Amino acid sequence: AEEKLLLAERAEGDPAVAVLTLNRPKALNALNAALLGELADTLEALDADDEVRCVVLTGSERAFAAGGDIKQMSDSTAAEMVKRESPNPWKRIAAARKPLVAAVSGFCLGGGLELAMTCDMIVASETARFGQPEISLGIIPGAGGTQRLTHAVGKARAMELVLTGRQISAAEAFDAGLLTRVVPEADYLSEAVALAGEVARQAPLAAQLGKDAVLKAHASLLEVGLDYERRNFLVLFSTEDKAEGMAAFKEKRKPEFKGR
Ligand code: HXC
Repeated sequence: AEEKLLLAERAEGDPAVAVLTLNRPKALNALNAALLGELADTLEALDADDEVRCVVLTGSERAFAAGGDIKQMSDSTAAEMVKRESPNPWKRIAAARKPLVAAVSGFCLGGGLELAMTCDMIVASETARFGQPEISLGIIPGAGGTQRLTHAVGKARAMELVLTGRQISAAEAFDAGLLTRVVPEADYLSEAVALAGEVARQAPLAAQLGKDAVLKAHASLLEVGLDYERRNFLVLFSTEDKAEGMAAFKEKRKPEFKGR
C-alpha cells in the first residue's frame, strides 16, 4: 500500500482530540507541496467536524519536521513558486478555527518551526531542536518565520536565529518564550494530547473565539509582515546563491556563496 504522508486519527479515549502525524520519516518529515496540501485539507475537514474540538499535530521522535523539502525547492524557480501560491497551503493552515497544539520532538527547523509556530501552543520534548537554517541555503524563511518568531521571542533573538541559522535547545526556546511546555521525551505526545483534551473540555465556541482573539493581538502587523517576507523569499529564489545553497545541501558539502 502507498504510504500516507499524513496520518489522521482520534486520541485514544478522547474522540474530541484529533491527532495528525507528519509521516515522511526518511526525509525527516520535510514538508513538500503534497504534504502541506493534505494537512490543509485535513484541518479544513476537522473544522467542519463538530465532534473534534482540538487538534494535535506531531511528527516523529527524531523530527517534527526538518523544514520545507529542499529537494523539491531546489528544482523550483521563482515562477513555479509563485504559481504554487494560490491557494497557499500555509494560509489555509493558519486559518484553521480550532485550536492546534504542536507536539514537537527532535528537529523542528525552517518550515518545520514555521509550522509549529502556526499552531497555537507548542509542547516540546527536552530533545527538541529549533532553528531557522534557511540562510545557510541562500534563502530566508518563507512561511512566517521572520514574523512569528519575532513576535514570540523578540527582535534580538529572532534576528540572531534568522541571520545565523543557529539551532537552539528546548530549554533555550522555552526561556525565550517560544514554547508552552517542555517535558521529557517519553511524554511529549501524551502531554500535548492532555493539553488538547483540557481545551476540548471547554465551551467549543469560546475556545475558537479565544484563539481568534489572541491571534488578533498581532494580526494586522502579521499580515503585512507575512506578505513582505514572502516577497523577499521569492526574490531569493532567482539568485545563484539559492541554487548553490540547495545544491550544496543535496551534495552534502559546504556552499560557496557569491552574492548574486
Ligand atoms: C529535504 C531533507 C531535509 C529537507 C533532511 N532531509 N532535511 N530532505 N528537505 N529539509 C533528508 C536528507 O537529505 C537525508 O536524505 C535524510 O533526510 C536524513 O537527513 P540527514 O541530513 O542525513 O540527517 P542528519 O545528518 O541527522 O542531519 C539532520 C539535519 C539535516 C541537521 C536536520 O538533515 C539538515 O540540515 N536538514 C536541512 C535543514 C534545513 O535547512 N531546513 C530548512 C529548509 S528551507 P538522504 O536521501 O540523504 O538519506 C525551509 C524553507 C521553507 O524550510 C519555506 C516555506 C515555504
